[in-house]
Amino acid sequence: MRIDIITVLPELLKSPFEASILKRAIEKGLVEVHFHNIRDYTDSSYNQVDDYQFGGGAGMVMMIEPIDKCISKLKSERNYDEIIYMTPDGETLNQKTANSLSLLENIIVLCGHYKGVDQRVRDAFITREISIGDYVLSGGELGAAVLCDTIIRLIPGVLNNETSALTDSFQDGLLAPPVYTRPAEYKGMTVPEVLLSGNFGKIETWREDKALERTKQLRPDLLK
Ligand code: ADE
Repeated sequence: MRIDIITVLPELLKSPFEASILKRAIEKGLVEVHFHNIRDYTDSSYNQVDDYQFGGGAGMVMMIEPIDKCISKLKSERNYDEIIYMTPDGETLNQKTANSLSLLENIIVLCGHYKGVDQRVRDAFITREISIGDYVLSGGELGAAVLCDTIIRLIPGVLNNETSALTDSFQDGLLAPPVYTRPAEYKGMTVPEVLLSGNFGKIETWREDKALERTKQLRPDLLK
């Protein structure tokens, strides 16, 4: 898979890809992540990427021309399955969306800033608009990092058995059951007996029960 991220702040975005699972996925060649600075696609000598909004109002708007130049260059080099715009008014990201995006070959992720992008960018180029939640970030970069993390960890070969995504919360529509590790007793706090029993049938049933119980308690909306 190849992900092209278009941003005015590539330096804000790079570090999540330089550690742990995402770093390993890139090193293994399972994903390529490329950063494109919109300022590199401006003609003006002071690299202007935003301007005042027509009709007046607070806040700057990202201009169409540099974004058009960047997206058009990328599209001339390969086909893209989705061109995603990170924005608080997009569809809210969930596991189902991450699962389906992880199957794609090439995606572009455009990070908004200031008041967002000129609407004509959205109308002409964007195929999907994604929000990471009902709150406003200073820009789409942190949202893009979250989106890429959810997608990349699902690419086959990125996680090993121990970290398999199949047992994550939400994968089966439920929250994950509680987990424990050594020591079996800590300051009087013990681990559920069944987990020490070695009876894998019983352990599986216990985990299913706990997942359901936890979901009922914490996220009943998931069961509807
Ligand atoms: N940009 C600003 N806020 C955002 C959000 N909640 N999700 C995605 N991109 C954003």
